[in-house]
Amino acid sequence: MDKDDAERRRLNRSRNRYHSALVLAWTPAVQHFETEITELLAANEMAPPGARLGLLIDGPPTVGKSTLVKMIGRQFEQDLREDFPERFAPERLGAYVPVVYISLTDQVTPKQISIAIARYLNVPTSGTKDTIDDRVLTALTACGTQLIIFDDLHFLDCSLKEGRASNDHIKFLANHAPCTIIGTGVDLEDSPLLSEGGPTGPVKRNARVKAPASGPRTQTAGRFSRQELSAFALDSKRSIVEWVGVISSLEKALALYRHEEKSLTRQHWRYLHERTNGSIAGLHALIRRSAVRAVQQGTEAITREVMDSIVLSYAHEREYAKVTDLKSRMVARNAGKQNKQRPAADGSA
Ligand SMILES: Nc1ncnc2c1ncn2[C@@H]1O[C@H](COP(=O)(O)OP(=O)(O)OP(=O)(O)O)[C@@H](O)[C@H]1O
Ligand SMILES: [Mg+2]
Repeated sequence: MDKDDAERRRLNRSRNRYHSALVLAWTPAVQHFETEITELLAANEMAPPGARLGLLIDGPPTVGKSTLVKMIGRQFEQDLREDFPERFAPERLGAYVPVVYISLTDQVTPKQISIAIARYLNVPTSGTKDTIDDRVLTALTACGTQLIIFDDLHFLDCSLKEGRASNDHIKFLANHAPCTIIGTGVDLEDSPLLSEGGPTGPVKRNARVKAPASGPRTQTAGRFSRQELSAFALDSKRSIVEWVGVISSLEKALALYRHEEKSLTRQHWRYLHERTNGSIAGLHALIRRSAVRAVQQGTEAITREVMDSIVLSYAHEREYAKVTDLKSRMVARNAGKQNKQRPAADGSA
């Protein structure tokens, strides 16, 4: 019996590990941006210096921007590994770096960006900005880097002077590095990359609401396209199919013994949207956490009850509270209407 218990614990622990790294979904957005980026890479490959095109992916928090660019970058490199295994031979470790991924930090300056790339490529980071820039450009060429991903570009210093300099720096890299540059961020339309005036007015909360960018357009605005990534909506047949498809791909990956096949996909897709406000982060977290709970509690199935018992992030719970509040007010209003229509038992009214 003890032996059985220990074995079950081991099995459950490894299933928890598995669920905690639940598969990522190749959503229609991931597929769309993969095509865009692959085409950009091809269009830029032999383009003369100074004319390279880039892409900015703009979207509110937690819609999956970082995950998306990492998935695409990883796939791009994996394809290269398959096609050119000799370039990745162990003795050439670090000599060929087709993808560079840099996650920017708050108030980052142009010099810090160069240092981050230098660190990624393992070249010295001492000296002036110009020295580091020279080393970085040489290293990018020597390492055969084709794709540079800047994640969280909204962290570029937005003060007038530094904002302008950051903008010039990205343009400098796009001009001189033989690479395609992809950036992600929140409210990039107002960032110094796309408008010289810097941000005006309050920060937008909803990326689907477009506000006019301030100030004259910059040179990066002339080379980079800006495309939006937003949360899943249920406002058309197509968008419903897309949402249900994502749920299905996550549900298929579950390792639970008594989970009713396709129950999330068929019965709970609308509930899952209400719980998460259409956020892939919320959906992934809810399914991951429910799977772990189903294992811990021995129910071995993700049911509405299990999902109801999970507390998601503050933002998701706050949005869900609005939905449940609206629903209960509608129920109360309908009940009120019916009471008015129904004649009173004593014949009055
Ligand atoms: N394609 C996907 N499939 C499954 N889960 C995903 C996918 N994309 C994102 N997620 C989930 O959403 C979480 C948040 O995603 P991510 O960090 O990429 O969002 P983000 O838009 O970069 O957010 P932020 O603006 O806060 O940086 C991930 O940790 C992952 O759990
Ligand atoms: Mg991110």
